[in-house]
Amino acid sequence: METRINEWNEQLANASAEEVLTFFNREYGSAICLSSSMGVEDQVLTDMIMAINPHFSIFTLDTGRLFPETLNLIQQTREQYGTNIKVYFPDFRQVEEMVREKGINLFYQSVENRKLCCHIRKIEPLKRALSGMKAWITGIRKDQTINRFNTQLVEWDENNGLVKINPLLRWSEKKVWEYIHAHKVPYNPLHDKGFPSIGCQPCTRAVEPGEDSRAGRWWWEDQGHKECGLHVKENE
Ligand code: ADX
Ligand code: SF4
Repeated sequence: METRINEWNEQLANASAEEVLTFFNREYGSAICLSSSMGVEDQVLTDMIMAINPHFSIFTLDTGRLFPETLNLIQQTREQYGTNIKVYFPDFRQVEEMVREKGINLFYQSVENRKLCCHIRKIEPLKRALSGMKAWITGIRKDQTINRFNTQLVEWDENNGLVKINPLLRWSEKKVWEYIHAHKVPYNPLHDKGFPSIGCQPCTRAVEPGEDSRAGRWWWEDQGHKECGLHVKENE
């Protein structure tokens, strides 16, 4: 697989995001999906993909702690594009046990607790969403976090055992917004209220003008920890 991935990275080095999506839609058929957090990058990808293949599979992970604005956007996007965004929920037994033992807002107490919550509410449902798939698409951009700087357009995702494709890897935040406005793509109204990066409600705050766009995610933790684990490689 590694050789193929290297070839794809060379072959698609100068391809547009639409070209990358068209290529992998053809390559993988129904064994590829888009993982959407309903953030702006994912909304760009949804808009592009729906024009390429209206039956393309899109899923989102509802952690149970999302903002109401995010939930409304799931519904709005479903209606606007006529696409059935599959919503995955965490296993209720694991959530109940965790909350009983450690409290509903356990994540503020330690990095360990925060990672446990992310594991139960995101990582486990992600594994179910990806089962049977050969490739998944994400809205990762290089300049989002320090850990993402070395990301490739096409990668082997060791944690989940499938190919991972990041078509917006080299896009700037400005380019994302230009696309959103030019194509009238629906987006989370919280973005206009100082939230550049949106995750779960208790773990996301607004940022001040000039602050880093990820500053509002898990803001009480050190910079290096600020990944929920969806995109962390085993050796990092
Ligand atoms: S996170 O690791 O910090 O939470 P981020 O919000 O930057 O991730 O999103 C990066 C990519 O991860 C998104 O473009 C999307 O592909 C995927 N992703 C993140 N959160 C979710 C979610 N709740 N449901 C589905 N995909 C998600
Ligand atoms: Fe839990 Fe916060 Fe992670 Fe959401 S982002 S799963 S609330 S720790």
